[in-house]
Amino acid sequence: MRSASALAGETTRPLEYLTGFANHFATEALPGALPQGRNSPQRCAYGLYAEQLSGSAFTAPRHANRHSWLYRIRPAAVQGEFRPLAHPGLLGRFGELPAPPDPLRWSALPVPAEPTDFIDGLLTAGGTGSSDAHSGCAIHWYRANRSMQERFFYDADGELLIVPQHGRVRLASELGVLEVEPQEIVVVPRGVRFRVELTDGAARGYICENFGAPLKLPDLGPIGSNGLANPRDFLTPVAWYEEREGPMELVAKFGGALWSAALDHSPLDVVAWHGNHAPYKYDLRRFNTIGSVSYDHPDPSIFLVLQSVSDTPGVDAIDFVIFPPRWLVMQDTFRPPWFHRNIASEFMGLIHGLYDAKGGGFEPGGSSLHNCMTAHGPDAETFERASRADTDTPQRISDTMAFMFETRTLIRPAPQALALPQRQRDYARCWQGLAKRFNANAREPR
Ligand SMILES: [Fe+2]
Repeated sequence: MRSASALAGETTRPLEYLTGFANHFATEALPGALPQGRNSPQRCAYGLYAEQLSGSAFTAPRHANRHSWLYRIRPAAVQGEFRPLAHPGLLGRFGELPAPPDPLRWSALPVPAEPTDFIDGLLTAGGTGSSDAHSGCAIHWYRANRSMQERFFYDADGELLIVPQHGRVRLASELGVLEVEPQEIVVVPRGVRFRVELTDGAARGYICENFGAPLKLPDLGPIGSNGLANPRDFLTPVAWYEEREGPMELVAKFGGALWSAALDHSPLDVVAWHGNHAPYKYDLRRFNTIGSVSYDHPDPSIFLVLQSVSDTPGVDAIDFVIFPPRWLVMQDTFRPPWFHRNIASEFMGLIHGLYDAKGGGFEPGGSSLHNCMTAHGPDAETFERASRADTDTPQRISDTMAFMFETRTLIRPAPQALALPQRQRDYARCWQGLAKRFNANAREPR
């Protein structure tokens, strides 16, 4: 089971556990650091401590069981007492917030001018459910202009799906390092400690903090054994550690709020690990897009990358969906997304380029929220253009990468998100130019 170690220069390798089998990885940064044949020998190699990190119930079925054994310089319990850490931008409870049924849209938020790291720059857009109940999610924006310095973070409330939109980030975690750029995503499992470093001086993006079941690859049904996001394109880090002492800070997201504890060493001191509760990344440009080659277009579930399932079969708590570059070839079809009202709630962001359902106003870094049964669809400009398009001609949408966090339950926007100057208060006006076209005496479409 032993993989090539970080000493050999390897930093990532295929993530296999998302195939649905209980695959385990085994990786070590020093030769022989992993114990052979048992998880917690009486004495670990190199004077390491053994520690188990469980991301699912002990008794979860094998295909859903997530846990890793960490062999580290100090146990994670070597830390100071936690004290509340105030954070004006972060919101952890959503149950009683008023939620307007209007369509909502925001322009891109600027990266702050004052020194701001990944934690400082979090701003909650909205959320649903409860981290206490392990159900629902929070949606945040992040904006940062400096790396986390002698500061580490873990989230006990949920798994973090991070979608960079601007600037590369280097995510150094207990289980290894992942370098991620816009159009890639990174997922940090519940509880894993990490530091975010900036590669480009500034960074901005979106986060889905998933309180519920860990994200997984969807089943493919009649699509078959290939397509959408392929398991071999998911990359998890090999073991990597730093041995550093000095005053440091551990920030925890716990019970909807932030807490801070002192450390006298780096918690990124795991020399070897084996298991399947580990961070991973995925390049959205690897997505194998499926679509109609005759007429009409399928529901957007065809663009599903990852899902967090609920207790109801077929009803996901969270779907992570992307709208990547693709060909549109459907004949005699209104090719953009049609007008719709859904039971699901849709938070969208644009990572790159243009989005085909809107003529303008939805810019890279921007966001929109169309909640349960909120009417939306193409704007008037897009409707006019698509209604007259030559559908005997294939159309290439080449310059785009949009995504959606789609939730089963209502996303309640955070009050500070509703008050942002970047909120486009005239957003709903984009549909008001859709004129009455009905004529009871003229059946032929105009
Ligand atoms: Fe929609």
